[in-house]
Amino acid sequence: MSSSQARLFRRRGGRSRTSRPGLGLLSAPAGLAGRLEDAETLDRVTQPLAEAIRRGLPAGGRDALHGVWAGQPVHPALVALPLGFWTSATVLDFVPGSGRASRVLLALGLAGTVPAAAAGLADWSSLHREQQRVGLIHAASSAGASALFAASLAARMAGRDSGGRLLALGGLAAVATGGFLGRHMAFGLGAGWHDLCRVYELPDGRLARRRLGYLTLTVLRQGGDVLALADQCAHLGGPLHQGSVADGEHGPCVTCPWHGSTFRLADGTVVHGPATARQPAFDTRVVEGGMVQVRPSRPSRRAHAR
Ligand code: FES
Repeated sequence: MSSSQARLFRRRGGRSRTSRPGLGLLSAPAGLAGRLEDAETLDRVTQPLAEAIRRGLPAGGRDALHGVWAGQPVHPALVALPLGFWTSATVLDFVPGSGRASRVLLALGLAGTVPAAAAGLADWSSLHREQQRVGLIHAASSAGASALFAASLAARMAGRDSGGRLLALGGLAAVATGGFLGRHMAFGLGAGWHDLCRVYELPDGRLARRRLGYLTLTVLRQGGDVLALADQCAHLGGPLHQGSVADGEHGPCVTCPWHGSTFRLADGTVVHGPATARQPAFDTRVVEGGMVQVRPSRPSRRAHAR
């Protein structure tokens, strides 16, 4: 973005990134996760790694690991398997005579980490920077947990059952740490602002399609204003970015190319059916450097921040 373009968008209401609430108001674990989000030094690892994963994985493979075929992310479901096996093994450690069952469960948990880690890395590589910083520590905790459970299994196989049980307890603690950070990422992804694209990459006055994690958005730029709706029509899923835009008494509206439903771009209100449900809308803002950020809009909130 040129300096004159940056001045233009700032004059038209582009705002700086909002500051984070004081960490003193947050619980200690949430405060730690917040500090990880701000730890820009982690970018030296996360950025090249994410780039390498994105380049190394073909688009079809990425989609499969994201869970596009399942209609929902598969990483959380895959993670549940090793977690369940390892928790069961650790509980069985307190039941006399169940050493063999514990070993089998530990081995199954280790086998389950492979698909879970692959799906997690694919998801992580598509997050924005703040989530990737937290995700790096989440992945390190999970890898540490796997190493501890592997060491636990090895110790048991060598006849050192007591040491194996202690290592399993350590693995469970590492899993809990990784799980907390994973939840923090998932929550943050749903609740915060997310980088979408540079404002100058959007055509002026024409609909564009942009990806946001698992979502696809229809985006309209009008000068310095950006409006965004979910791309899949609330009627039967038509691609709104292929529809037409018109300015009328309701402001800029998009008409679906499939059956003609018309939605207000500012907040997704239905102007004409056959759709009867509001189209999911997003708040937008343009921050320093011309980055367009979006977050899910509540019906009571204006769909753009100006
Ligand atoms: S799918 Fe959009 S109007 Fe039917």
